[in-house]
Amino acid sequence: MSSQPQWTAVDDYFTGLLAPDDEALAAALRDSAAAGLPAINVAPNQGKLLQLLARIQGARRVLEIGTLGGYSTIWLARALPADGRLISLEFKPEHAEVARANLARAGLDKVAEVRTGPALDSLAALHAEGTDPFDLVFIDADKVNNARYVEWSLKLSRPGTLIVLDNVGRSGQVVDAASDDPAVRGTREALDLIARHPKLDGTAVQTVGTKGYDGFALARVLD
Ligand code: SAH
Ligand code: DHB
Ligand code: MG
Repeated sequence: MSSQPQWTAVDDYFTGLLAPDDEALAAALRDSAAAGLPAINVAPNQGKLLQLLARIQGARRVLEIGTLGGYSTIWLARALPADGRLISLEFKPEHAEVARANLARAGLDKVAEVRTGPALDSLAALHAEGTDPFDLVFIDADKVNNARYVEWSLKLSRPGTLIVLDNVGRSGQVVDAASDDPAVRGTREALDLIARHPKLDGTAVQTVGTKGYDGFALARVLD
């Protein structure tokens, strides 16, 4: 029977081989911890997956919902060309401040911008600005609003846009249709939306690793 120590050992092996950190990534996690931010960033090999997905997309514009200390932001922003743009939305000013410093140290402050405030407000503002469509959206904020975030992602998308939704497995709790956990309910609502929306084609995958037992969903905006 496989278990957390084994998942961690295998993740450490994969990460050391394929997604090793560097000074900017290590410093981002160090300073996030020092500032008291929770260690709920993506694992390094997941960050590398996001970066590969952005590269496969040929992404020039990335939207992230949920910045924390900017760890996933660094992985994603590094996939962009010099004239690319990443906009990351963060509710807590103290998280955004740490993230901005981490992005600047990584040399990504010209490409990546952190906007503070409730993401639902920032998304409405982006739409009102007539911002260009995003090529990839990474949704990783308050899970209760997951379906709303998928809806906004669609409004800010083009045919072919990739939407990535984090934390959909929830240690298996996602199968509980009667759950009163707002994160489970919000996640199921988003998955239902992906399943039935005529403009979305998606799947979901379970994961184990340093962050336990969870999963992610991918959805592509149809042509
Ligand atoms: N993507 C990050 C982790 C994000 S953790 C990484 O992998 O490195 C989730 C973040 O979403 C937290 O910083 C939290 O403050 C933020 N958040 C929670 N509710 C939010 C909201 N309504 N609008 C914007 N951000 C929110
Ligand atoms: C939590 C949030 C995340 O986005 C994540 O990847 C892991 C944990 C949390 O709120 O506990
Ligand atoms: Mg997450």
